[in-house]
Amino acid sequence: MNRHASARPPMPRSVDEITASRRLRRMRKADWSRRLVRENHLTVDDLIWPIFLIDGENRREAIAAMPGVFRLTVDMAVREAERAAKLGIPAIATFPNVELALRDRTATEMLNPDNLINRATRAIKAAVPEIGIITDAALDPFTDHGHDGILSEGVVVNDESVERITAGAVLQAAAGADIVAPSDMMDGRIGAIRDALDAAGFQDVAIMSYATKFASAFYGPYREAIGTGGLLKGDKKTYYIDHANTDEAMREIEQDLEEGADMVMVKPGLPYLDIIRRARDEFAVPTFAYQVSGEYAMIEAAAANGWIDGEKAMLESLMAFKRAGCDGVLTYFAPRVAEILKG
Ligand code: PBG
Repeated sequence: MNRHASARPPMPRSVDEITASRRLRRMRKADWSRRLVRENHLTVDDLIWPIFLIDGENRREAIAAMPGVFRLTVDMAVREAERAAKLGIPAIATFPNVELALRDRTATEMLNPDNLINRATRAIKAAVPEIGIITDAALDPFTDHGHDGILSEGVVVNDESVERITAGAVLQAAAGADIVAPSDMMDGRIGAIRDALDAAGFQDVAIMSYATKFASAFYGPYREAIGTGGLLKGDKKTYYIDHANTDEAMREIEQDLEEGADMVMVKPGLPYLDIIRRARDEFAVPTFAYQVSGEYAMIEAAAANGWIDGEKAMLESLMAFKRAGCDGVLTYFAPRVAEILKG
């Protein structure tokens, strides 16, 4: 027989003994005490609003997978930018749904100074100069295959793509963009864009690098929004980061900062909070997240079914970005959140 078995079992300790009187619930007992010890705050200054553009006038189109989000003609986009500025939203980010007839293999329309995205920038800047404009320096809205680069014999070729993205980014700056945001993950694009912007006299135009953009299933509704979903053949795994990797994501950020990025972004958002926290801790530079279309759609769909409280889930998801170390978030919820924060 085990000689311990006959020993007296220890007396169970009291909760005071277990906690040594450290009871964390004390500060949670009332709204005032919770407010007093709150570590993070979500404000309107944290919001960047992505909007979708279409050609035409006085028209907006619903996007099935993104209830509450619309594609806007330029005049409507101007009105929404005015509303955003009144709400105190610091910046908007524009994404064009380009007419199919204007898309081709090499994204020629990106080099049109009067393309949809540049026309929108000019119109918004003229009407609402106080709001920041971030343009998507990307080829995918302009290619007939939906890839973010120039496709040659089935391969997205890096250097030719960088050349085109860079030329397009300079035209976006010329149209009045405050920040250009390349979202393609080509190697060397940040340095190339910085050089070209400086050479063209746009030293004050900043670069927000989609430094860590992962190959993700969460972009689905976006591809419906800009009409690339049906066009895309294959996937983007040869240029976006494998979503199993985090060291590689840090190397991307390091490189983009060396090349001249002013701010970095992690995309998607909520499933990648570990990346945001690492980026904040290792680099301490302006860090943003993109709460992408699939994240928006999940919250909206569950809320529409009555399965979650959509408004609470929205606010909780945005606070998660703050907790992880973000300076701000690109989110389709931006105007709704701004209204709530305004009270
Ligand atoms: C591509 C681009 C994507 C998004 C913005 N720009 C991803 C893609 O289609 O591969 C996604 C944004 C979202 O899902 O909200 N340059």
